[in-house]
Amino acid sequence: MTIPVDTRTIARQTLADAAYGVFIDNTFRPAADGRTFEVTNPATGDLLVSIPDAGAADARAAIDSAAAALPAWAALPAQQRADLLRKAAALMVERKEHLATLMTLEQGKPLTEARGEIVYAASFLTWFAGEAERVYGQIIPASVANKRLMVLRQPVGVVALITPWNFPSAMLTRKLGPALAAGCTAVCKPAEQTPLSALELGRVFIDAGFPPGVVNILPCSDPIPFSDVIFADDRVRKVSFTGSTEVGKILIRSSAATVKRISLELGGNAPFIIFDDADLEAAVKGAIASKFRNNGQTCVCANRIYVQRGIYDRFSARFAEEVGKMRVGNGLLPESVLGPLIDMAARLKVERHISDALAHGAKLMLGGSAMPDDANVPGTFWQPTVLTNVRADMLITQEETFGPVAPLIPFETEEEVIAAANDTPFGLAAYFYTRDVSRVMRVAERLEYGIIGANDALPSTAQAPFGGVKQSGLGREGGSVGIDEYLEVKYLSLGI
Ligand code: SIN
Repeated sequence: MTIPVDTRTIARQTLADAAYGVFIDNTFRPAADGRTFEVTNPATGDLLVSIPDAGAADARAAIDSAAAALPAWAALPAQQRADLLRKAAALMVERKEHLATLMTLEQGKPLTEARGEIVYAASFLTWFAGEAERVYGQIIPASVANKRLMVLRQPVGVVALITPWNFPSAMLTRKLGPALAAGCTAVCKPAEQTPLSALELGRVFIDAGFPPGVVNILPCSDPIPFSDVIFADDRVRKVSFTGSTEVGKILIRSSAATVKRISLELGGNAPFIIFDDADLEAAVKGAIASKFRNNGQTCVCANRIYVQRGIYDRFSARFAEEVGKMRVGNGLLPESVLGPLIDMAARLKVERHISDALAHGAKLMLGGSAMPDDANVPGTFWQPTVLTNVRADMLITQEETFGPVAPLIPFETEEEVIAAANDTPFGLAAYFYTRDVSRVMRVAERLEYGIIGANDALPSTAQAPFGGVKQSGLGREGGSVGIDEYLEVKYLSLGI
């Protein structure tokens, strides 16, 4: 007999010891002005917890704390910083169940995906622990006998890290890992929808033994006072942001005031191309993994699925058959494969894209509407949807949908599909499936994207550079280059 899961009891138990606050100097404290805000569960609409709402005074206190901690942290031997990062990663894995449940409660993703994200998040700390030990300088041969020329690589200083709601843990560690490894101290602002996962990481950093002030985390309902303070303060030398291109452009303008370094991981509009010669079953599996990961709410999700004519009907039928098996429901229930959308605004965008496509001649093959409402469902659950006969002039191919909707677009030639794939201001991730090795190189070289998955729908990993070209961002996270974003190059000329 299976015992039904009581999701509200799980929520109560998970939050029983919650004492969240503004995390500064390794302590959780009330906001300076005493304000609080509510964190809710997107799967039920329930209030999870009310937490302190950091404002401008808290942002200033966090920068003070990070600036005070900087000299000692930067001077700590790299191996000791690496040891602390490894300890934090081990604690995250040890606490995986709790961290994952909390993530599912505030973000909605199914528990299996949340567990996967905790391991993924921890892997950035482990990877950058290794990179901390490999921050090499350079000796340059001088053109005169009485000089020695050197290049030192030093931490940028205090950094501000702004993270999104779709990966509440991994996007934070993908920034914190390299920042801390390089010797920077950090002031972090998690998304207003998902601050709890970030604050739990604060606890992890305390327990791992990080000195006070090295990591500060500011939950807040309004990002503007935080941004105003960090961009005005000369002590904050760098800002790293993951989120929309629209906000990214505002941050580029704001960074001019004090000439800050800036890294941006912004929106995408990923093409997923299936050529006639692809392994059909692998392509179906890959397209589902890419399109429906986190309910379609990732920057690298397949947004436009191009299928070559010769395989279009067979692919569409198999794809819709498999998508039709995906169970939608509260992420705490073991049978749920797709959770809720993050909020009603996300649902409205999904609705708008589908109705525009249908009005312009697309055909609905599967889904197409919200899940039927009941007492437990606030309307954020959407049926996985497959549309055929989609064209380039529809909204759904021009904008990132960020939801569980798969538009299938037919194409004839390689030339035509490369032109269509590149016909966007965005350039984060692109995917294609083919068995032709020459085509793999030809197409990969011509796609204007920062990340290419060839016969691989899930290329993200701590060891590889993640980031986009065009309006998808600036800089790279992860990989051996990820730490460069947090290092300054200093040239030393020594006369002897
Ligand atoms: C994102 O959606 O920005 C991150 C996804 C990933 O790390 O694969």
